[in-house]
Amino acid sequence: MAFLADSLKRIKPSATIAVTDKARALKAAGRDVIGLGAGEPDFDTPDNIKDAAVAAIKRGETKYTAIDGIPQLKEAIVAKFKRENGLDYKPSQVSVGTGGKQVLFNALMATLNPGDEVIIPAPYWVSYPDIVLLAGATPVPVATRMEDGFKMKPAALEKAITKNTKWLIFNSPSNPTGSAYTRAEIKALTDVLVKHPHVWVLTDDMYEHLVYDDFQFSTPAQVEPALYERTLTLNGVSKAYCMTGWRIGYAAGPEMLIKAMATLQSQSTTNPNAIAQWASVEALNGPQDFIPKHNAIFKERRDLVVAMLNQANGIKCPKPEGAFYVYPSCAGTMGRKAPSGRTLATDEDFVTELLEAEGVAVVQGAAFGLGPAFRISYATSTTVLEEACRRIQRFCGNLL
Ligand SMILES: Cc1ncc(COP(=O)(O)O)c(C=O)c1O
Repeated sequence: MAFLADSLKRIKPSATIAVTDKARALKAAGRDVIGLGAGEPDFDTPDNIKDAAVAAIKRGETKYTAIDGIPQLKEAIVAKFKRENGLDYKPSQVSVGTGGKQVLFNALMATLNPGDEVIIPAPYWVSYPDIVLLAGATPVPVATRMEDGFKMKPAALEKAITKNTKWLIFNSPSNPTGSAYTRAEIKALTDVLVKHPHVWVLTDDMYEHLVYDDFQFSTPAQVEPALYERTLTLNGVSKAYCMTGWRIGYAAGPEMLIKAMATLQSQSTTNPNAIAQWASVEALNGPQDFIPKHNAIFKERRDLVVAMLNQANGIKCPKPEGAFYVYPSCAGTMGRKAPSGRTLATDEDFVTELLEAEGVAVVQGAAFGLGPAFRISYATSTTVLEEACRRIQRFCGNLL
């Protein structure tokens, strides 16, 4: 009899974390490696947020808290949804977890049965299909096209819906493409969903604040109030507030679902870290002025990376609206020979050979369900990005 659970056979370790680990190991072995795999801002957590955590420790906020969030944080989240999204929630409709990832995990685990289907536009964040699989349900990827800005068309959504569809997972701005849906584009999708009352929407708004060129962020429950009763709006402090290590994420939606998620969490991690919750109260209620400052820097980096990648032989890189990722196609390099003598047949070959030849770590499109392409995280300094792009240009230029 096997010792490990069968459910584990359905999932794989996160590819993005694997690349980061590989780059770290090569670096430790003395190789000159530039890691562009990590999905986190390079900026430090702002001081006012750190100070709030220190104050919480000194006040003795070091005990268990309410399972799905302290009242002060729930109030701050309610105020955030009202202020930034025009959405009305009660504190009892809010769930706080150990990162957006746990909140997503809770929502899917609390709702999915074998046979249920979850529509996931591809390319997608690596965790969506794996959590669906772990829950015993079926991910239904819907391929998008680079020509459409990697955005799902209403007809493609309509076609993917069956009587077994339970959720659509929607993510804008997107990890891994950075593409973001306009209000009109979201409305076109919600018009489809309105006709299918059994389909719920899990909208992952984690990159809400990371948008450029005056892009206006919108979220489904705001665009189509008729979907409010079947939408879970997920967000967190990791990306916008540079708090990836603090592990606080949250969501708001119908009370029945929020309660079920709390039951699940009560039997796994209990409450999210008390100190990090107090820091998040400050993040949401405190000054927000560093966000546009960070965005100005991210935008400059995005423009630099897009321009330099489009000068690389065989690479085509669209300019996305948000997040800190670009998702260039490497279709033009397929069938060519790398310096090692190996022929590039997949995007996995492309990233492996790039790491070997030039010491640049990126993540293969295969991990995100649409290729041949790769993801670059540009959350690192301009100097490093310039050097990385020069190496990619050289790698592509040297292909035979
Ligand atoms: C699209 C998306 N959603 C959710 C998360 C989870 O973030 P966290 O668990 O740090 O809150 C991430 C992190 O990479 C992400 O890229």
